[in-house]
Amino acid sequence: MTPPSPRPILVTGSAGFIGANFVLDWLRERSAPVVSLDKLTYAGNRANLASLDGDARHAFVQGDIGDQDLVEKLLTTHKPAAIVNFAAESHVDRSIHSPEDFIQTNVVGTLRLLQAARVYTENLNDADKSAFRFLHVSTDEVYGSLSPDDPAFTETNQTLPNSPYAASKAASDHLVRAYHHTYGLQVLTTNCSNNYGPYQFPEKLIPLMITNALTGKALPIYGDGLNVRDWLYVGDHCSAIRRVLDAGRIGETYNIGGCNEIKNIDIVHILCDILDRLKPAGRSYRKQITFVKDRPGHDRRYAINAHKIESELGWKPTETFATGIEKTVRWYLDNLDWIASVTSGAYRQWVKTNYEQGIRA
Ligand code: NAD
Ligand code: DAU
Repeated sequence: MTPPSPRPILVTGSAGFIGANFVLDWLRERSAPVVSLDKLTYAGNRANLASLDGDARHAFVQGDIGDQDLVEKLLTTHKPAAIVNFAAESHVDRSIHSPEDFIQTNVVGTLRLLQAARVYTENLNDADKSAFRFLHVSTDEVYGSLSPDDPAFTETNQTLPNSPYAASKAASDHLVRAYHHTYGLQVLTTNCSNNYGPYQFPEKLIPLMITNALTGKALPIYGDGLNVRDWLYVGDHCSAIRRVLDAGRIGETYNIGGCNEIKNIDIVHILCDILDRLKPAGRSYRKQITFVKDRPGHDRRYAINAHKIESELGWKPTETFATGIEKTVRWYLDNLDWIASVTSGAYRQWVKTNYEQGIRA
């Protein structure tokens, strides 16, 4: 007798940077199928999942997490064992220009997704109900900003969000918590530090610097360039999420980080040095560095204390920054067509808005 096929998981935001990496990794590592749900905003790119076309274990649906009827239909049709929620507006600078979009997706969208999950699980038998997981992917930015000597963020830090993006993510984390405490939904929340790797949209620091360097444009460093982020290779984030899904304690929050605190200026120097070696341009890419007006409310430092996930679940990152960043730069160099396809007219308009108008005019 053939064993029953495993129940699928529903992954939202699967055409974005981390979601796409997660789905690709999942289908390499696991047998359970994936139902992908993505609205395909400017940040979502169907082509990120093109290598799965024809794979019977993957179904892609274009739609909004805020469309509760659609999500309820997907849940009753596919009967997933878990929802992994990556769908979000994710760029801090965009949240400064248009906060409303962040409330719609990150707060209202998450609420409707939770509500659909609640309706679905209330109709499951007890065993399936208690096996179900709603894993919400969040950020370290909900904890606010650290001074140079502050200890790294733990899961018990107060939420002190400083940007509209961080505030919207903190609100969504609170809703997830409330759905567990009030309705008994089997939730897990992860708060991760800055990711880098393949398929990251070139509005974020690392892919923006690579893209601008290769096209001879300025490398715009906000403020004094001494802000610190804790960098994690995206593949390590994906393995951490799989681990939390498998063994995380219901209702708990897990911080995920790379133990890689690096100043922005150092990141850009590292990228220039790798590009000088892999794609020499006659003069160092460092010559393209320019300092520009700071991001309003710019958080100075983030750092994750990942002791809980390491000690409880045995997860640790496998990539060092040196190995991860080399892989990443090589991926962008090998995928210039991908960069060209995502830096459309709308992208060029965003670059104008963020770097030439408004707060930087
Ligand atoms: P991204 O912007 O690259 O991708 C977001 C995806 O969500 C896109 O495919 C987009 O089309 C989709 N989406 C947006 N609104 C939607 C909606 N209403 N319904 C369905 N799909 C929608 O973001 P990312 O960097 O991959 O981040 C994924 C998640 O991880 C986010 O929740 C983010 O807050 C969190 N996170 C990101 C980082 C990071 O460094 N990138 C770090 C920690 C946590
Ligand atoms: O910490 C996790 C968060 O990391 C995620 O929740 C967010 O979704 C993700 O966008 C990221 O937020 P940051 O604001 O830290 O990432 P960003 O790549 O936008 O910027 C990283 C740092 O680089 C930050 O200090 C601002 C600076 N920066 C960024 C850009 C785009 C520049 O100096 N110049 C730039 O052009």
